[in-house]
Amino acid sequence: MDNQLNQNLNTADLNGIHEYSELLSDILKFRARGEVPMALVRTYGCQQNVADSEKLKGMLKEMGCDFTEDENEADIIIFNTCAIREHAEDRVFGNVGALKNIKRRHPSLIIALCGCMMEQEHIAERIYKSFSFVSLVFGTHEIHNFPKLLYSTITENHRIVARGNDDGIIHENIPTLRDGTFKGWLSIMYGCNNFCTYCIVPYVRGRERSREPEVIMQEARDMIAAGYKDITLLGQNVNSYGKTLESKKTFASLLADIAELDGDFRLRFMTSHPKDLSNELIDVIASHDKICNHIHLPFQSGSDRILKLMNRHYDRKRYMEIVNYAKEKIPNLSLTSDIIVGFPGETYEDFQQTLSLIKEVEYTSLFTFIFSPRVGTPAAKMDDPIPYEEKSKWFSELLKVQEEIAAKRCESMVSKTYRVLVESAKPNGELTSRTEENIIVEFEGSEDLIGTFQNVEVTKARNWILKGKLV
Ligand code: SAH
Ligand code: SF4
Ligand code: F3S
Repeated sequence: MDNQLNQNLNTADLNGIHEYSELLSDILKFRARGEVPMALVRTYGCQQNVADSEKLKGMLKEMGCDFTEDENEADIIIFNTCAIREHAEDRVFGNVGALKNIKRRHPSLIIALCGCMMEQEHIAERIYKSFSFVSLVFGTHEIHNFPKLLYSTITENHRIVARGNDDGIIHENIPTLRDGTFKGWLSIMYGCNNFCTYCIVPYVRGRERSREPEVIMQEARDMIAAGYKDITLLGQNVNSYGKTLESKKTFASLLADIAELDGDFRLRFMTSHPKDLSNELIDVIASHDKICNHIHLPFQSGSDRILKLMNRHYDRKRYMEIVNYAKEKIPNLSLTSDIIVGFPGETYEDFQQTLSLIKEVEYTSLFTFIFSPRVGTPAAKMDDPIPYEEKSKWFSELLKVQEEIAAKRCESMVSKTYRVLVESAKPNGELTSRTEENIIVEFEGSEDLIGTFQNVEVTKARNWILKGKLV
């Protein structure tokens, strides 16, 4: 890479955000095609990226931008990318390629790429070389530098790649523009130290670091005061929250503190790594009404041999101990999980262990993935003799088993009444809502109910969507 590529822009000072945003507000207005500069921020990947995009939007708003979903209307386009699987990366490459013609028609358009993909050197390099119409590439550690980077690329008229600067500092007070008005994300920590052998996240998100409890509490209070009714605490492994703090506060006690705040809201969290889940946490969930009776508890594989190869640090027995304790303590507990099918060296017998675990636990829903090798991870170098077509067959077998389990669970909810948060209206006039268990219930009602809690009796189960009526 040439010198321009790896710029080490050293601006930990947060005033930089506001100063550069102010300078940019005139520049962007001048360059805009319409009255107001229009920005398009497209987010790929998980909630962590959604939360980062909310910061990008907060800063863009400070620069005077309005927002659009139409690429042809935008003066600035940002793709916030995900590196978790090859498919996710391919989508980004395809969608960036398609911007070439738009840039040709509107030469003043600024195209920026950021997020997890950009933290991989080989990807940043490929983007820089293949897409000369991309002005700015920056990684997950450079979000707070976005205004400065944007300012440099425009005023100095050169292309910038800024990545890999993992200083371990948490940059607080970045302006944020949340997507929702009653459902919101609250990051409690960043990064990951677990190095599961298949996973790229620790390489692109850096080392685990927790936000100070006071800062989180203040943000939670602000969200509740602003009318947020469904708050999800975010981290790659929330159960290890606090390990980097002097106070050594645990996740269980942070969760309890937030749940004890005044206001009518419900609290969720993700993701829970089974290796760090404590009984204390389960007791906290059980004893606080505001904490949803839902735990997303990825087990990845039901085979102990594969769990070891994955470096997950628990076995099936330990996982089932947690599940059984949680089921005993938390009434109507809803469990969801992530699963990888076709990890290198996984046999059909190993896969059968995953199926048997699914049947034993009876998950509400599953996020299932076929293993995708990621450059730089240990699993990408492991022997992987099973062809993709075979893995796809296993994958379909798993989906079928889960479909029956989910249908059975939905069936068991018929005739019961649930407190739901109304989320949106469908084109056919029905409302969509969600139970504490994270299950969708649709019912007839007026649009004014959006963003409120209602009691709904489930009348019918259709696959895994429930129909209901207002009580
Ligand atoms: N921190 C979370 C997961 C984040 S990634 C946790 O530990 O549970 C979300 C999910 O993507 C993972 O749980 C895993 O199931 C899946 N995943 C990660 N890397 C993958 C890969 N290389 N191939 C296929 N699936 C993968
Ligand atoms: Fe990836 Fe494992 Fe970290 Fe989750 S805990 S982000 S799967 S390395
Ligand atoms: Fe993707 Fe990055 Fe999340 S790789 S899954 S967006 S942490």
